[in-house]
Amino acid sequence: MKNKAIVCRCEDITLEDVEKAIDEGYTDLEELRKKLRIGMGPCQGRVCIQIIMKILEKKTGKKVSRRDLPTSRPPIVPVSLGTLASDEK
Ligand code: FES
Repeated sequence: MKNKAIVCRCEDITLEDVEKAIDEGYTDLEELRKKLRIGMGPCQGRVCIQIIMKILEKKTGKKVSRRDLPTSRPPIVPVSLGTLASDEK
């Protein structure tokens, strides 16, 4: 039976997607992020990264270093869409 439990809500990634990617050889957090876009949604991985780390550790038997955790990159200064769309300099 396929496991359709959602592990990354922002990018709609299931447990099955993650396990399949690990089985294909994507065995570190950065590789999984690049393949599946895990942690690249609006929450920047605050919801899913810990879950993905646990799945990865369980499947590979290797400890995932906390240093491998991605950092969020919010804008330095909030910018409105109106400002971005305007011709003002
Ligand atoms: S739940 Fe994965 S990026 Fe938000």
